[in-house]
Amino acid sequence: MFRTHTCGLLNASMIGKEVSLAGWVHARRDHGNLIFIDLRDRWGLTQLVFNPETNPSVHDKAEKLRSEFVISIKGKVRHRPAGTENPKIVTGEVEVVAEELEILNESPTPPFEIAGGSDVSEEIRLKYRFLDLRRQELQESLKFRYDVTRVARDYLHSLDFIEVETPYLTKSTPEGARDFLVPSRLSPGTFYALPQSPQLFKQLLMVAGYDRYFQLARCFRDEDLRADRQPEHTQIDMEMSFAAEEDIMKVVEGMTASIFEKLLKKKIPLPFRRIPYEQAIAHYGSDKPDLRFDMLLEDVTDEHRGIGFKIFAEAVERGARIKALVFPTPEGKDFSRKDFDELTRYLGELGALGLVWIKVKRGGEVESPVAKFYEPERLSNLIKRVDARAGNIIFMIADENIRASTLLGALRVHLAQSFLAIPKDRFELCWVTDFPLFEWSEEEKRYVACHHPFTSPREVDLSMLESAPEKTKARAYDLILNGAEIGGGSIRIHRKDVQEKVFKALQLSSKDAEEKFGFLLKALSFGAPPHGGIALGLDRLVTLLLGKDSIREVIAFPKTQKGTCLMTEAPSHVSPKQLKELHLKAGGA
Ligand code: AMO
Repeated sequence: MFRTHTCGLLNASMIGKEVSLAGWVHARRDHGNLIFIDLRDRWGLTQLVFNPETNPSVHDKAEKLRSEFVISIKGKVRHRPAGTENPKIVTGEVEVVAEELEILNESPTPPFEIAGGSDVSEEIRLKYRFLDLRRQELQESLKFRYDVTRVARDYLHSLDFIEVETPYLTKSTPEGARDFLVPSRLSPGTFYALPQSPQLFKQLLMVAGYDRYFQLARCFRDEDLRADRQPEHTQIDMEMSFAAEEDIMKVVEGMTASIFEKLLKKKIPLPFRRIPYEQAIAHYGSDKPDLRFDMLLEDVTDEHRGIGFKIFAEAVERGARIKALVFPTPEGKDFSRKDFDELTRYLGELGALGLVWIKVKRGGEVESPVAKFYEPERLSNLIKRVDARAGNIIFMIADENIRASTLLGALRVHLAQSFLAIPKDRFELCWVTDFPLFEWSEEEKRYVACHHPFTSPREVDLSMLESAPEKTKARAYDLILNGAEIGGGSIRIHRKDVQEKVFKALQLSSKDAEEKFGFLLKALSFGAPPHGGIALGLDRLVTLLLGKDSIREVIAFPKTQKGTCLMTEAPSHVSPKQLKELHLKAGGA
C-alpha cells in the first residue's frame, strides 16, 4: 500500500499514529541537521521531518531529494514544536517524522516553480502544461469546473432529463463558424465535419420522443480565437419537447441558481431580468448588457437640432442619431486631454468617426472643445436630459442608430473596466430576448440566421418571412452574465413547411436544403413535436464564476490564440502514407 492518508488529512487527532504518505516534494528546507520536506498531492501539503540522529540512513537518502521528486514515506505523526504551527493549512498543527523513505521517481529542476505564483509566461506554462496543472490554482479551477458539471447533471437528472451522446464524426451543422473536416478513408474524396454543436441531433432526439435531453457536449468551431473562445469548447446542451420559452428559461434559471447556491454559497434572484434585444441595444449599446453598472445610453438627437456644431447638425439632418453616455468620474480621477485622446483613439479603432465629451463642473459650468457651440439653454437642456451632475462627463457619438449605440456601448464597458472598481464576486444575469430572425451579411450579400436556421420565427411574423425578412423576430434567447454571452437557445421550427420557408429566405435552394438537411426535413415530416432548447458555454461560465481573465485558465489542455497546442505541438504534419490512405495531398509549407 502506497499510503494510508493523503497529504491534506492529518491533524492533531492523529498524533502518535504510524502513517504512510506519497506525493511530490513541494519544498525543502534544511534547518541545522534537520531536513524538512513539504509533501504535496491534490489534497494538500504535509510537513515531513528527517532527523539524522534518530534515523541516519533515511536522513542520508533525504539529502538527495529535490523539488518534484516523487516519494513515499512511512513515519509517525507528532505535534509541531510550539510556535512553528501553520494555521493557514489543514495539516499545519502536525508533522510526520519519517522512518522510511522510498524515492519513486526523480525530476530535473522544473522550468518554473510549482509552489510559486504565475509570473511565468503563458507560453512556458502551456508547453509544460503537465507541470502547470500541478499548481494549486489550476487544480482548484479544474475541481470547480467538475463541480459545476456535477451540480448541472444532478439538477437536470432531478427533472428527468437524460444524457445522450451524439456523434463527433458527422455532417456540417451551421452555427456560424467554419467546420473542422475529417477525411474519410473508406469513401475517397468525402469528409466528415466535427459538430459545431449537437443541434440537429438533439432535435432528432425530440422527434424520437426522448422529451428531455442534455449532454455535456464538446463542440468544434474553426473561428478566430479570442480570450473567451477556443476551437473546441464544452456546452451544457439541452432540449425539451412540448416546451415554450418560459419552460426552458425556468430550467436554466433553476440550474444556474443551484450552481451559485451550492458552489458559491450565493442566492441569486429569480427570475432573471428579461431585456428585449432592441432595448438592450438602445440602453446598453450591446446585445450582451453588463448590468453590474448603470451608465445607460440616452438619445439626444432632438437636443442637437440646428446646433452650430456642424458635424452634429448635419448628422441630425441626415437622419443619424446622437447618443449620449454619462460617466460618473470616480473620486480622485480627473480626465486630461490625453485621456480623452486615448478614448477617442480606442473608439476610432472600432470604427467611430469621433467622440465628443463635455465635462460638467460645479455650478453648471462645463469644459469641452465643443462648449462654444452650445447656447446656454441648449446646454442646460442637454444636462437635464441626461441627468448629468457635477463631476460627470457626457460622451456623445453621432452615427447611424445602431452603430452609434454599439460604439457608445463599447465605451461604456471600456470605461467601467478601466476606471470603476467592480468587485470580482459581483454577478449580474439577464436574458436577452426578441432577437431579429435574420441579419444582413454584407460579405455574402444575403440574409443569414442570427442564431441558426432552425430557430422558429414568431407565429405572428410568419407572413413576413418572404415580404420583410428583416422585420421577422426570432423565438430566441441568450443568457448573459456580467456582459458575456454564456448561453444561447431558441424554440425550434417543428414544421417542415416553415423550415423550408426559412431555408428559402436564407437563399438556400431546395436542392441545397435537401442535400444538407434532407434528414432533418424528413424527420420533421414524421410527427415532430414542438420543441426548443439552449446550450450554456461551460468554459465561459466557469471562467466568469472564478473571476479568471481567460478561458484557458479553466481548461486542462487549451489551445493558444493560434489554435495550436504547445505541449503536443498539434496540429502537425502527417506521414505521406497516412495522406495516401486518405486520398489527400498536403498543401501549405
Ligand atoms: P451558441 O452558438 O450560441 O448556440 O453556443 C452556445 C454557447 O456556447 C459558448 N460558445 C463558446 N465558448 C467557447 N469557445 C467558443 N468558440 C464558443 N462558441 C460558443 C457561448 C455560447 O453562448 N446549438 C446552439 C444552442 C441551441 O440553440 O440550443 C449553439 O451552439 O457561451
